[in-house]
Amino acid sequence: SKNGFDHFMMKEIYDQPSAIHETLARRLDSNKMIQLDDIKLSKQEFEQIQKVYIVACGTAYHAGLVGKYAIEKLAHVPVTVDIASEFRYSDPFIDGNTLLIAVSQSGETADTLAAVREAKRKGARVLAITNVVGSSVARESHDVFYTWAGPEIAVASTKAYTAQLIAFYMLALHFARIKDTIAYNDYREKVEQIEKLTPAVEEILSRKETVKEIAQTLLEAKSAFYLGRGLDYMSAMEAALKLKEISYMHTEAFAAGELKHGTIALIEEGIPVLAIVTQDRLAEKMISNMKEVKARGAYVIAIAKEGIEHIHEVADKVIELPKAPDLFMPILSVVPSQLLAYYVSTLKNNDVDKPRNLAKSVTVE
Ligand code: F6R
Repeated sequence: SKNGFDHFMMKEIYDQPSAIHETLARRLDSNKMIQLDDIKLSKQEFEQIQKVYIVACGTAYHAGLVGKYAIEKLAHVPVTVDIASEFRYSDPFIDGNTLLIAVSQSGETADTLAAVREAKRKGARVLAITNVVGSSVARESHDVFYTWAGPEIAVASTKAYTAQLIAFYMLALHFARIKDTIAYNDYREKVEQIEKLTPAVEEILSRKETVKEIAQTLLEAKSAFYLGRGLDYMSAMEAALKLKEISYMHTEAFAAGELKHGTIALIEEGIPVLAIVTQDRLAEKMISNMKEVKARGAYVIAIAKEGIEHIHEVADKVIELPKAPDLFMPILSVVPSQLLAYYVSTLKNNDVDKPRNLAKSVTVE
């Protein structure tokens, strides 16, 4: 049921604090150490892994991009992320020392399942991150990490994505502990920081009216851009997919530094540019990119961590996010982008839960 909400999508956006909590809490023991019982990779097997492939489609692929960052940073293993439909025909360079992580909310996406089969044929170890117990991807993988997000009905994925991010953070911490690439105190601190994301998401949800007001200013726009750097670029890709698939507004995500290599030609008077600014060491660069588009007439909306200097001077509108460590900010920055997509879609009277031309799970190629 929609639990009193008008649409499944809004209900599922609101399910996120509990999806985050469930995905995490169910794997913490009484000492707050991560226990991944469904993952049978031994320490010895893990130590043999020389590289990781993450394969998925759509929103799950965007979760994989954040996953790469977390695993490389914490566990010091090189990670390649690929779109499943590309991976399966690319004759990927994988062998017995490869771990393939397949990410799929439904566990039934045809291309992701084909990637699992291809990787197994080549001798890789396969780990699934999925939301559906007993799904095809879960059954055919060696190990499974279930995201406990609960059923996701709306076509546009929301809570499955945030739960996938939590899964990746936990996997990365778990791998780091096995490989001894993280200090015990740092590990403990990160687990606590992840726990604090639940109230932070609730806080963002409590300010949803601000996002609705901004959505009202976007209804006439023909196209929009999302910009970000580092992890914010990954979040920009997910934000752009969300906006385009339910509002039908043409939206593209760009790495902010790449703009002046072509795309800035499209910036004209009044075009909405949504800048995601949550990474401390990249904030100053983002501010200057925002100034560049603003000087060309863009209507600049920032989704920014609290306390970013000069943000209110360069942006026409600012949606503020509570502070969390940079690594975990993708969990927070995605929430306003989901709300924005929801409001633009519903204000346009689109069928937000069942957008045109789309199916919830793509079981054909
Ligand atoms: C977008 C969306 C899709 C799915 C993609 C993969 O909001 O929902 O992009 O993420 O079709 O689906 P799963 O995760 O079920 O493999």
